[in-house]
Amino acid sequence: MWLFGYGSLVWRPNFNFEDRAEGFIRGYARRFWQGSPDHRGVPEAPGRVVTLISDPPGECWGVAYRLESREADRILAAVDHRERAGYVRTQLPVHLRRGETETAVVYFADDQNPNWLGPAPVNQIAEQVHRARGPSGSNTEYVLRLAETLHAMGVTDEHVFAVEAALNPLQAD
Ligand code: BEZ
Repeated sequence: MWLFGYGSLVWRPNFNFEDRAEGFIRGYARRFWQGSPDHRGVPEAPGRVVTLISDPPGECWGVAYRLESREADRILAAVDHRERAGYVRTQLPVHLRRGETETAVVYFADDQNPNWLGPAPVNQIAEQVHRARGPSGSNTEYVLRLAETLHAMGVTDEHVFAVEAALNPLQAD
């Protein structure tokens, strides 16, 4: 069983896996449009974390992990619990950089969930990220680690990189 990560799972998969492969899903874009009241923010000041939106010509790059079949249910149950503030699972084809296409479990949060924040100007997203902090750490760390990993993979995500750039001057505060 494969699990595809495009958010924190890209840089911090805190589970065992049998294989790791970079790849992308087609038809989706990554956006900081989901509120985080429990990890990278608090209910009174939620952070912004990524979800997927439909984007027919788009590709969203991330990392796919092959889970050992005996461990998969336990790992997914743990991710379900951790991401209970709005995310649900679906299954999508992931095109691996090395050539194969695998069906993978993917978590996403839609605009009907109670923590949905939706679109905002990049500077406003960066301001909110800059201020937000929760039990898992600062929202800025979440954005910068994701951007750093995507840079290291050699892939482009204009939205992530725009928020990263907008955070730079704020960090001098
Ligand atoms: C991810 O890193 O892909 C992710 C995992 C759970 C919820 C949302 C995103």
